[in-house]
Amino acid sequence: MSHVHVSQHPLVKHKLTLLRDINTKPKKFRELVREISILLAYETTADMLLNDTTVTTPMGEAHGQEIGEKIGLIPVLRAGLGMVEGVWEMMPSAEVWHIGLFRDERTLKPIAYYNRLPISPTVDICLVLDPMLATGGSASATVDILKKWGAKKIKYMGLLAAPEGIARLTGDHPDVPLFLAAVDERLNDIGYIVPGLGDAGDRQFGTG
Ligand code: PRP
Ligand code: URA
Repeated sequence: MSHVHVSQHPLVKHKLTLLRDINTKPKKFRELVREISILLAYETTADMLLNDTTVTTPMGEAHGQEIGEKIGLIPVLRAGLGMVEGVWEMMPSAEVWHIGLFRDERTLKPIAYYNRLPISPTVDICLVLDPMLATGGSASATVDILKKWGAKKIKYMGLLAAPEGIARLTGDHPDVPLFLAAVDERLNDIGYIVPGLGDAGDRQFGTG
């Protein structure tokens, strides 16, 4: 069974409210996506493996730990791009591998258009970054691509999800845990999350 984690952190709730606001302009929107992503990354990586190490302080030797897994950040173009910077700041040795998908507006099916993954996996854990889980088609297709690549450990990080998207992703990939800022009511008849925040790509990039 998949685990669905919905952040209960007050800062996430506060910032998400600002993000949803129709009056929030692209510059502020990008800043909020970055900040919420950092907070979600903290929750997403809470079980990350550590290796023991020692460090020399000005006073002597101290026991310490360092991250023991190679991390891959997988932003889904376009909207996932805005989540990279904040998460990457927290784990600067992560590799970033982009996947390009967009939803056909009529069928709502994902169309893949970009994938430059190397032949075999170079990371131990993949964090899929995409703010919106609507029908779940794009997220499920991204996980399909990563599994075909050979990725064994995959987590999904998103800002807003519809129940339909959660059902699709957890049904197709029960081994992939979800880390979300909030779960909304439903999808509308054109596949948008309600109440949602509108189009996450357009609001970040000032398009549409
Ligand atoms: C958005 C979003 C997801 C997808 C979610 O991307 O960033 O990738 O829709 O919808 P789904 O769960 O129904 O598949 P979009 O297709 O708008 O592309 P864009 O980021 O390039 O604007
Ligand atoms: N993609 C978005 O950007 N917003 C939605 O509500 C659904 C899909």
